[in-house]
Amino acid sequence: MNIFPFNLEPSLCFYVVVYVLTLVLHAIFMTYVLAGSIYLAWASMFPGKTAIVRARSPLAEVLRDWMPFALSAAITAGVAPLLFVQIIYRQEFYTSNLLLGWRWMMVVPVLIVGFYLLYVVKSKLISQWSLAARGAVTVGVAGCFLFVAFCWTANHLLGIDAARWPDVYATGAVVSSVVSLASRLMMWVSGAFPVMCMLALWQLVYYRRRATDVASVDRQHSGPQFVSEIRVLARMGLGGLALSLMFATGYAFTLDAQIRGEFISDGIVWAPFLVVGGVFQATGWFRLLKSEGDSFAIRVLISVGCLSMLVAVGFLREMLRISKVDLTVVNASVKAAAGVGGFELFVGFTILNIGLMAYCIRLVNRRTTGE
Ligand code: HEM
Repeated sequence: MNIFPFNLEPSLCFYVVVYVLTLVLHAIFMTYVLAGSIYLAWASMFPGKTAIVRARSPLAEVLRDWMPFALSAAITAGVAPLLFVQIIYRQEFYTSNLLLGWRWMMVVPVLIVGFYLLYVVKSKLISQWSLAARGAVTVGVAGCFLFVAFCWTANHLLGIDAARWPDVYATGAVVSSVVSLASRLMMWVSGAFPVMCMLALWQLVYYRRRATDVASVDRQHSGPQFVSEIRVLARMGLGGLALSLMFATGYAFTLDAQIRGEFISDGIVWAPFLVVGGVFQATGWFRLLKSEGDSFAIRVLISVGCLSMLVAVGFLREMLRISKVDLTVVNASVKAAAGVGGFELFVGFTILNIGLMAYCIRLVNRRTTGE
């Protein structure tokens, strides 16, 4: 059996593979921003009654410090799949962009507002503001990123619904099914939490280590507070995983019965990656919930589970879309693009970008640890 996308023509297969892998990279940073901003909004609105309020907890501090970088990385990493999606689905992508019109253009100013608000959230100044003002800013930030996620999902759904394009052009009603849009969007939003929690887990462990080595680092990053933060992550990770599964199932039921049947029978080869990914993550988070600390093996288990799920979701997502497009048109467009060349340049710039990102991580890290 030829596993998707290896059953496609070689040049299309190449573009789909690099598209999915670069999209996964985008998703890793994007989920940190999306789930991180929602968590911060919640922590500001409901600070709790413990000695260290939620909004000042190590997790909130780490998120505040790293979200501006993560957003830059999400935007940078979004460029590569943005290029590939235009090569593979030229007609679908451009048509939905045009039909969405000003609604699609809103993504840019909203992203800019969200980006600058992240620096307000990170500044020392905001801690002197009233609870209402802090709540308004953090909810505003989360609202900006939720809106961007909503736009990408709406754009995707409109792109794969060619039969509706004339109607949408005439009526301007871009959403055909609220249930389908809401379940798909909620699948992304809830699925963002396990990924954010996995990344934050590595960060908290790293800062706890440094807290025992470097005297100047905040002591909150060690001791009982650390264990309680790890449990918060475990609860959010498990909750996000369960909810994303529920919304994905809901979204599957909004699909046409024949497409759903084909999707299940052809997509079965990616199912083990989903199942293993889910089981690895659930096992890791349960272990963290029950134990008094973490271990390197558990972190690796959760991370492998996360990556495995993201890659499987990426390929399954494409399998569904490719079943709806005219493969003759797509193959012709992809072949033309493959003939232009420039692959070496792409690889060169990818390596350069990875180097620059590593440098930025080092810079933010120096600032966080006060080196
Ligand atoms: C924090 C800001 C952002 C959020 C929350 C976000 C969220 C999302 C979500 C939820 C999807 C999946 C849509 C779906 O399958 O239903 C997506 C896809 C995508 N995003 Fe982002 N995104 C952000 C910023 C960006 C930026 C700035 C770019 C480009 C530079 C970008 C490029 C892409 C691309 C190319 C896709 C795939 C589109 C497709 O296959 O149709 N994203 N994003």
